[in-house]
Amino acid sequence: MDTAIDSNNELKTRFPLTPQSTLGALVAIVRNPLDALPPSIFTEPLVFSKTAGEIKVYLADPALIHEALVKNADSLGKGDQVRRALGPALGQGLLTADGAHWKWQRQSVAGAFRHDKLLGLQPAMIAVAERTRDRWLENGQGTLDVGHEMMRTTFDIIVDTMMSGGHGIDVGKVETGISDFLRPTGWAFALGLVHAPEWLPYPGRSKAKAAVTFLRSSLQSVIEERRKSPDDRCDLVNMLLSASDLETDRTMTDAEIVDNLMTFITAGHETTALGLAWTFDLLSRNPDVERKVLSEIDKVTQGRPVTADDVSKLVYTRQVFSEAMRLYPPAPIITRTALEDFRLGEYLIPAGTVLIVPIYAVHHHASLWQDAEIFDPDRFTPEAAKARHRYAYMPFGAGPRVCIGNAFAVMEAVAILAVLLQKVRLAAIEPQTPKPVMKVTLRPDKTIRMKLVLR
Ligand code: HEM
Repeated sequence: MDTAIDSNNELKTRFPLTPQSTLGALVAIVRNPLDALPPSIFTEPLVFSKTAGEIKVYLADPALIHEALVKNADSLGKGDQVRRALGPALGQGLLTADGAHWKWQRQSVAGAFRHDKLLGLQPAMIAVAERTRDRWLENGQGTLDVGHEMMRTTFDIIVDTMMSGGHGIDVGKVETGISDFLRPTGWAFALGLVHAPEWLPYPGRSKAKAAVTFLRSSLQSVIEERRKSPDDRCDLVNMLLSASDLETDRTMTDAEIVDNLMTFITAGHETTALGLAWTFDLLSRNPDVERKVLSEIDKVTQGRPVTADDVSKLVYTRQVFSEAMRLYPPAPIITRTALEDFRLGEYLIPAGTVLIVPIYAVHHHASLWQDAEIFDPDRFTPEAAKARHRYAYMPFGAGPRVCIGNAFAVMEAVAILAVLLQKVRLAAIEPQTPKPVMKVTLRPDKTIRMKLVLR
C-alpha cells in the first residue's frame, strides 16, 4: 500500500493504487464503460486507479458518496469528459453546466417539477400510455420491440407534458437522432481521458454531428413558433422563455433554450424508457412477481380504466420498477472533477482528480446487497428501504445535482405499467436477458423483442 499521512492535516495524500492498463481501459470505455470499472469496486468501498497518468477515485461506499456528492458538492464540477461527450448536443444546459450558470437554470425550471404540478400531469401520462396500449391491441398478438415501444411512449409523454405537444416534432427521426448521437460517446469519453485533440475523427462522429444538427434545429423551430404565437401555457418552453437570472437580470438566448430542451428531451425520456424495458424483461422471467403486480393492478383499478388517483396506490408496482432500476440503473455511472482540494474520508483529494460514482457497482455491491443478482422487489418495502443507507440505492444520483425529474419518472413509469399490464402481458422470446451496455445510458446489447399476450 502506497499511503502516507500528511503531517499538516492528518489526511492521507498518497493513494493505494489498483493497477489498470490505460490501453485496456480505453478499449473497454469505447466498447462498454462498465467493463472498464475496476472489478474490486464491486466488493470494496473505494478504489484508486491511475490511467493515462491521472488518478481516478471510484466510490461505492454510501457514506463516502454522501461526503462527496452532498457535503462537498461545491468542490466538484461535471468535468471535461462530460463536457466533451455531451456538450455538442446539450451545450451548457442544466445537466452539463456548472456553478452559477447551473444554479439559475435549475431555479428557473424547478417550478415545473413541484409535486402539485406533477400530479396535474398524471392524466396526460395515462392518456399517452393508453395510446400505446390501443396500438398494441389493434395489432393483436405478435412480437414487439419493447425498447422502441417504451422510447416512443416516454417521448410522447415528455413532449406532451413539458412542451405542450411540441408542434410536429418527428418522433421516429428524433429517436434515431438520439441513438446516432449516443452510439459513439464511448470514443468521446476515451479520447477525453487521454486529452486527445477535440478535432480527432472517430467512428460514428459525422453521423452523430448530423444528428445533433437535426435535433437542435427541430427544437429551434419550436422556439420560433412559440415566439411568433406566444401563449400563457405554464409549460417548460414558456418557463425557459421567461426565465431571468436573479443576479444579472439577463434572459436565456435561443441557443441556451435549445440546450435545455435538448437536455430535457434526452434525459427525460430515454432513461425512463430503458428502466421500463428492463422491467418488462424481468417480469417475464419472474412469474411470481408478475402475478403479484397484475393482481395489485386489478385490485386497485377494479377493472375500470386506470385513473390518476390509482398511481400512488400501486405500491408494489413501484417497488418492481425500483428493483429493476437497481439491477439496471438507466444512468449507470456519474462522474465529477474536483475543482479544488477537498477531504474524502481519510484522504485529501487534490484539485483536478476525477471522481467516478459507479451507480451500477453500488447497486450490485457485495457488502450492500444480499444475493445482489436476484430480482426481489421486496427490497423496496418501506421498512427495508429505511434499514439501508440512503445512498446504497441512487438511480437518480445524489446531492444538489440529483435528477430533477425523479418523481416525474417514477410517476410515469407506474402509470405506463398499470395501463399496459391491465390488458396485456409481455413474454420473453430470448432465453436470456440481454447484456447491459453503457452508452451514457444503460442499453441492452440487443433488441428486447417480446411476445404480446392478451390478458
Ligand atoms: C428513470 C428515469 C431517470 C433516471 C434513472 C435519471 C437519472 C439521472 C441521474 C443519475 C442524474 C444525475 C446525473 C449526475 O449527477 O451527474 C440525472 C440528472 C438529470 N435528470 Fe434525470 N433521470 C431519469 C429521468 C429524468 C426525467 C423524466 C427528466 C426530465 C423530465 C430528467 C431530467 C434530468 C436533468 C435535467 C438532470 C440534470 C439535473 C441537474 O444537474 O441539475 N431525468 N438524472
